[in-house]
Amino acid sequence: MSETKKVRLRSAEWFGTADKNGFMYRSWMKNQGIPDHEFQGKPIIGICNTWSELTPCNAHFRKIAEHVKRGILEAGGFPVEFPVFSNGESNLRPTAMLTRNLASIDVEESIRGNPMDAVVLLVGCDKTTPALLMGAASCDVPAIVVSGGPMLNGKHEGKDIGSGTAVWQLHEAVKAGQITMHQFMSAESGMSRSAGTCNTMGTASTMACMAEALGTSLPHNAAIPAVDSRRYVLAHMSGIRIVEMVWEDLRLSKVLTKEAFENAIRVNAAIGGSTNAVIHLKAIAGRMGVPLELEDWTRIGRETPTIVDLMPSGRFLMEEFYYAGGLPGVLRRLGEANLIPHKDALTVNGKSIWENTSAAPIYNDEVIRPLDKPLIADGGISILRGNLAPRGAVLKPSAASPELMQHRGKAVVFENFDHYKQRIVDPDLDVDASSVLVMKNCGPKGYPGMAEVGNMGLPPKLLAQGVKDMVRISDARMSGTAYGTVVLHVAPEAAAGGPLAIVQDGDYVELDCHAGRLHLDISDEEMASRLKQLGEQPPLPIQSGYQQLYIDRVLQADEGCDFDFLVGCRGSAVPKHSH
Ligand code: FES
Ligand code: MG
Repeated sequence: MSETKKVRLRSAEWFGTADKNGFMYRSWMKNQGIPDHEFQGKPIIGICNTWSELTPCNAHFRKIAEHVKRGILEAGGFPVEFPVFSNGESNLRPTAMLTRNLASIDVEESIRGNPMDAVVLLVGCDKTTPALLMGAASCDVPAIVVSGGPMLNGKHEGKDIGSGTAVWQLHEAVKAGQITMHQFMSAESGMSRSAGTCNTMGTASTMACMAEALGTSLPHNAAIPAVDSRRYVLAHMSGIRIVEMVWEDLRLSKVLTKEAFENAIRVNAAIGGSTNAVIHLKAIAGRMGVPLELEDWTRIGRETPTIVDLMPSGRFLMEEFYYAGGLPGVLRRLGEANLIPHKDALTVNGKSIWENTSAAPIYNDEVIRPLDKPLIADGGISILRGNLAPRGAVLKPSAASPELMQHRGKAVVFENFDHYKQRIVDPDLDVDASSVLVMKNCGPKGYPGMAEVGNMGLPPKLLAQGVKDMVRISDARMSGTAYGTVVLHVAPEAAAGGPLAIVQDGDYVELDCHAGRLHLDISDEEMASRLKQLGEQPPLPIQSGYQQLYIDRVLQADEGCDFDFLVGCRGSAVPKHSH
């Protein structure tokens, strides 16, 4: 503790002076029943809470916060819990992605403007993890992630069903006449039967794994089920640790290095993680000033075996993943094969990622498979480029059909999501299993918010014939729980005048995931003339002032969909007094 006193507490700028300002800052806090000694040189720890009853995945967070507080108090800190904008994936329309940046602004300004020395980030539902990491990274304070944990396995008709993944599967089955509407509806209650986030390797679980792989959480944070008492022990231990981090001045910038992002990209491949991670990691890195390119995903992620056998790519759910050894087990498997790019990357507990995981037990080889028996030999995310996506597009091979990963087919074009919904059910639609479904205007500006509509359901008449997958291309995202040979994040998007905007029915499109190519088979002259004809786009219809700000300032998918003016680290210098 001798080192301890070298750190000048940021909160002392509020509470540490015997003058008018100190009086005001302390006095109003005292209306909560806080005694004098709590203001005497104790680290003030913010608990940034995304609790909301409208974000069901995070609805148990007040209880988690209570356990974090116990840890903070035990370690000699003083906890202050505060709410931030809660992005609930299931309820928020038009998409929770629209408000990820808004939440990040809330987090950044709340941290910088308030008396706190460090922050615990309570995250769960998909966008809450990147939003809070983005905001905290822009302040560069000591920060630790505590996730809410996944729901227990879904149960329906005697089988395990996975969040989201079951919805897509059952919906296709009911459309194909394989199950009744009654069976479809009755799965609702069985799928979500406990507190927590989606129990598949969807975006929430992926981002929880990313937070752990980046070193921003304690080991095992990603997978402990929400209702498992060990989740609350981890919350308590995180509370203890964040106080120590203040004294060690262990800021996010020491953890969120380029090396940490490279480790996370490798881990994403090993877990069969969501394509959304490409956008979120870029946005977080951007806040920290770490350069991260789409090509990093090819260089580090591609050809890494996917060894975690979880839905949507595989068979199991997050509950089994934790019981099998969780993310530390995966890191051990990777590290033993020298597949962790940077074993010495520092994590929030003060140890390296490899020190934390080199002896991690693995209890079930079916769930965390050995590297020589992978679920997919060459996992990761395929980055595609070509005249249809000059600034890139992505595809998740582990969710795709191998036989479609090299494919040439005739485009069936939808101008937007409404047009798709109208047209896809048309029994006379000129489409067969070899067609390529192309949808426009679902990107960051076009939707707006880049909704998860890229995994377009197949034409009912083809489903009835037993067709299970087709190549689909759009500037949208897809849920991490979804699957199929789906090309996403085409950049620039159609609404920003990207070449996607000029695809017409009957054009031939070539996809080659192995070569990383996405090509519209028309001549350069034809492409130029169609783009010229396209001309200026009409202004996009908006429903709110925030949507206007979003459309005006959002960056494209390859840049992480942050706002241009939010990229970068602005630090945590104490602002001027308010009086
Ligand atoms: Fe919240 Fe999936 S909807 S985690
Ligand atoms: Mg999701």
